[in-house]
Amino acid sequence: MLDIFINLLCKTLLPSDISYLCSEIIFYVVKNHKKGDAMTNKLELYKCNVCNNLVEVLNDGFGELVCCNKPMELIECNTSEIEELNEKHIPVIEKEIDHMRIRVGAVMHPMTMEHHISFIQAISNDKKYVKTKFLDINETPELNVKTSSKTLWSRALCNIHGLFRGEI
Ligand SMILES: [Fe+2]
Repeated sequence: MLDIFINLLCKTLLPSDISYLCSEIIFYVVKNHKKGDAMTNKLELYKCNVCNNLVEVLNDGFGELVCCNKPMELIECNTSEIEELNEKHIPVIEKEIDHMRIRVGAVMHPMTMEHHISFIQAISNDKKYVKTKFLDINETPELNVKTSSKTLWSRALCNIHGLFRGEI
């Protein structure tokens, strides 16, 4: 039995608008785990560079995620030092009276077909709570979360510049 659960987050439309969703995501699960074996961790995001599948890991597991016969690539949060890039991508978390408001970023990110934020997530530090909002073109890249928790962080995916993380 597979010991990895994933959440298929989205597919990216190609410029020609011809896209397809890979019908099978194949998991190679290592039966006799050894130190150094590939491991997936809860809430990591992996993408397929062939078909643009994007998956989220729902529990820790061993083995390599493979799609289109190639290992999927772990998406790391962007740690750019370019101020202009950061101010348009790093989620800003603000405490309102009865909720948290998350917006991408300090200067609003474009939301065009060519350049947009695909989704925003709010995640508790203990990883027990995750809220995901998928965005449409021209939609304001914001997410409201009904919690007063101060142990919240956020991440947002830009279709061009990648994944960015913001803290409260
Ligand atoms: Fe961007």
